[in-house]
Amino acid sequence: MSLNKRHPFLYHKIIMFSQQAGPIGIFDSGYGGLTVFNEIQHLLPNYDYIYLGDNARAPYGPRSFEVVYHFTRQAVIKLFEEGCQLVILACNTASAKALRTIQQKDLPTWDPSRRVLGVIRPTVEEVDKISQTKHIGVLGTTGTISSQSYALEIEKMFPHISVTGEACPMWVPLVENMEYDSPGADYFIEKHLNHILSSDPEIDTLILGCTHYPLLLNKIKKYTPAHITLLAQGKYVANSLKDYLLRHPEIEKKLTKNGVTRFLTTESAEKFTETASMFLQHQICVEQVSIE
Ligand code: DGL
Repeated sequence: MSLNKRHPFLYHKIIMFSQQAGPIGIFDSGYGGLTVFNEIQHLLPNYDYIYLGDNARAPYGPRSFEVVYHFTRQAVIKLFEEGCQLVILACNTASAKALRTIQQKDLPTWDPSRRVLGVIRPTVEEVDKISQTKHIGVLGTTGTISSQSYALEIEKMFPHISVTGEACPMWVPLVENMEYDSPGADYFIEKHLNHILSSDPEIDTLILGCTHYPLLLNKIKKYTPAHITLLAQGKYVANSLKDYLLRHPEIEKKLTKNGVTRFLTTESAEKFTETASMFLQHQICVEQVSIE
């Protein structure tokens, strides 16, 4: 094995995956992707899923491009090793910083027949229909906002729309530490909403550009004027996946359909089970895994 000079974390190694049909992989740095998984499973209940949360290394939001790419790549390899033929990065930070490189550089060498999809594009596709003023705000992690991924994607698809981003670095830790409903959360939520809405008072649509944020929805609503639409992405990602599978029967036929879901975490299984109960309405069985 030799160290890659551009990405010193990466080793060149030959990766072989099974060609058998398998589940849909859903990946997030932590619990946030469960908000997307819920919507996907609700819309497509017959498929099998493996949810992987890299809880031991969350949050990804403040991490560099290189580290997010390296961690996300490890997670995708793990899901492929577990038999997934299709992986959804249910994480905006990973979609912003790792998706393109994985799609363009890694997949062609690993296995060009596998797919990795993100959450930013399906969300962006909706904004023109929803916004009247054509002024959009994006709330996200520091990594997502500084990558400009939403602004660039919206510019490409809808150049007439103006985009303002707001990094909310404390919001993911509030969710991961189960403080999302506590009085302390109000300060950070009000602060960022006031800031983005005063930066562009014409904003009429706010994208919740982080899969953790639907858990903060009650408090976000409290500090958002009623005429503003809050766009949570889970439902749009699920619709887009359904549409993708209809358009790509060659991928769809490689997915198993027994209605079974496995949950994997890089943290303790017990901790994941306890916290995941905030997101899911039923009991789950969780396995701890290593992806390094
Ligand atoms: N749910 C991830 C996202 O959508 C979380 C980010 C993090 O780990 O900071 O960006």
